[in-house]
Amino acid sequence: MTKTVSTTPYGDQKPGTSGLRKKVPVFQQKNYAENFIQSIFDSLEGFAGKTLVIGGDGRFYNRDVIQIAIKMAAANGFGQVLVGRGGILSTPAASNIIRKYKAFGGIILSASHNPGGPTEDFGIKYNTGNGGPAPEKITDAIFARTKTIDAYKIVEADDINLDMEGESEIGGMTVTVIDPVADYAELMEKLFDFPAIRALISNGFGVVFDAMSAVTGPYAKEIIENRLGAPKGSVLNFMPLPDFGGHHPDPNLVHARALYEEMMSENAPDFGAASDGDGDRNLIIGKGMFVTPSDSLAMLAANAHLAPGYARGLAGIARSMPTSGAADRVAEKLGIGMYETPTGWKFFGNLLDEGMATICGEESAGTGSNHVREKDGLWAVLLWLNILAVRGESVAEISRQHWASYGRNYYSRHDYEEVDADAANALVAALREKLPSLPGTSFGALKVEAADDFAYHDPVDHSVSDHQGIRILFEGGSRIVYRLSGTGTSGATLRVYIERYEPDASRHDIETQEALADLITLADEIADIRTRTGRDAPSVIT
Ligand code: G1P
Ligand code: ZN
Repeated sequence: MTKTVSTTPYGDQKPGTSGLRKKVPVFQQKNYAENFIQSIFDSLEGFAGKTLVIGGDGRFYNRDVIQIAIKMAAANGFGQVLVGRGGILSTPAASNIIRKYKAFGGIILSASHNPGGPTEDFGIKYNTGNGGPAPEKITDAIFARTKTIDAYKIVEADDINLDMEGESEIGGMTVTVIDPVADYAELMEKLFDFPAIRALISNGFGVVFDAMSAVTGPYAKEIIENRLGAPKGSVLNFMPLPDFGGHHPDPNLVHARALYEEMMSENAPDFGAASDGDGDRNLIIGKGMFVTPSDSLAMLAANAHLAPGYARGLAGIARSMPTSGAADRVAEKLGIGMYETPTGWKFFGNLLDEGMATICGEESAGTGSNHVREKDGLWAVLLWLNILAVRGESVAEISRQHWASYGRNYYSRHDYEEVDADAANALVAALREKLPSLPGTSFGALKVEAADDFAYHDPVDHSVSDHQGIRILFEGGSRIVYRLSGTGTSGATLRVYIERYEPDASRHDIETQEALADLITLADEIADIRTRTGRDAPSVIT
C-alpha cells in the first residue's frame, strides 16, 4: 500500500562535493532521509518502470536508509531495485552496476572516508545513468526541492531480507538482492592481466592490502587472495564494520599509519595499499617508498599501456585543479589532452563520456578511468600490480625513474580541520581581495606569476563553475592553492595545497616538507592562517 506522508522542509540539505553528508543524529530526525530521497526523485524525470541501484558502504544507519529508499522507490514508480547483499556496494562497484545493467540511476549511501557510528557521519548521494555522481544541475535542483518539499511517498511493507540473494516484490516493484562483488571482479579481470599478477605474487612478491574495516574487504579478499593467489591474511581488516572499528577509514599517512610504518620497515613486503570507507580512494606504498596520489596518477598514466585494458593508449588525462602538475608532463610527452577540473569526481563525467579523457585523478587519493564513472581504489591497486608485474621493477625504482625523466613535483596538502566557519570564510574573502595585487610581487626567491580564483568552463556542456579555489602561481612552476572543503560535517576545513617542481634529479631525495619549507611559510604569510584560524599547525598533513 502506497501512502503519502506530509512533511516539512529542512533548511540544511545542500549536497556538497559528494552528496549530502551529516552526522547520523541529523539523519535520524523525523523524515530527514525521506525528505532528501523524495527530493531526489522529484528532481528526476522519466524513471517510471526503470531500474534503480541502491547500496552503501556498510556504515551505521546504512541498512535503515536502504529499507526506506527501497520502499520509496516502489512508491515513486520505479520498476526494479538492484541492491547489494547486506546493503553493501562499494562506490565504484555501484557505478559499474548502474552502467552494466543500464539502470536509470543509483542511490549510494556513504560518507566516504569520514568515521561511522551512531554519532558519526552518514551520507546520501545520487548517481545518474552514466554511473557518475549527479552533475551540479541536478544537485542544485535537489537542494531547491528540499526547501519546498511538503510530502513524500512510501510503500507500507515488511523490510526486505538484504542478506539473501534473489528476487522479491514490494508494492509492484521487483527487488533483486545481488552479489556485490561478482560483476566488479569480472570487470577487473577484463582490464588487467591477472595471470601476470598471479605469477608475480606466486614468485614471492609480497602484497598487503588494508581494507580499514570498510567496504573493500569483500572485494579485496575475492580479488587479491582468491583470484590473484595472495596468501590468506594479505588483506587486513576485511570485515566491513558499522563503525569501521572506531577508526577513520581514510587511507592517508595519518589514518593508515600502521601500514605506512610496516612498509618503511626492514622486512616490509613489496607492495602495500589501502582503500577508504566506500572503496573509491587508494593509498599506494612500495617498500620504503610512499607514492603521493598526484605522482601515482602521473605514473599510472605513463605506464597504463602495459595493462590489457589500456593497451591502445590513453585519449587524455584529467586532474582536479589542486592535484599536482606531474600528470601534465606525462600528457605532454604522450601528446594527449590534459584537462584541469574543479575538485570532485563529478567534473570528470563529461570528459569520460565524450572519450576526451581515459584516466583521471585527484590529489586526495582518488584515481580512476573510463571503466566506471567514480574513482576506484582497487582499480588503482590492480593497475599498479599489473605495471609492477610487467616491468619487474620495484615501486621505488619506477618512482625514481619517473622523476628522472619528468622531474619531480614535490607536493603536500595541509588541512586545518573544524575551524570556525566565519573565520574560514573571512580568510578566503580576504585572499580574494588580495588577488589582483599579487602578480609581479616577489617573496624572497619566489615571484608570483599569476593569481586567480579558479573557474571551470566545461568543454562539453559549457557550464561554468566559479570559486573553485584560490591559486597563486609562481615562476618556475611552484603553486599554493587554498580552498574550503565541501565534504566536512562540522565547522570548516581549510585545505592548503603546496607544490614545487624540481627538474634536477640530484635533488629528488629531499624530504617533502623540507623541500616545500619556503612555500609553507609563505602560504601562512599570504593568507594569515595562524592569526585568522587561531591554529599554529595543520591538523592533517598529507
Ligand atoms: C574531498 C577531496 C576531493 C574528493 C572529495 C570526495 O573533498 O578533497 O578531492 O573528490 O573529498 O572524496 P573536499 O572535502 O576537499 O571538498
Ligand atoms: Zn570515498
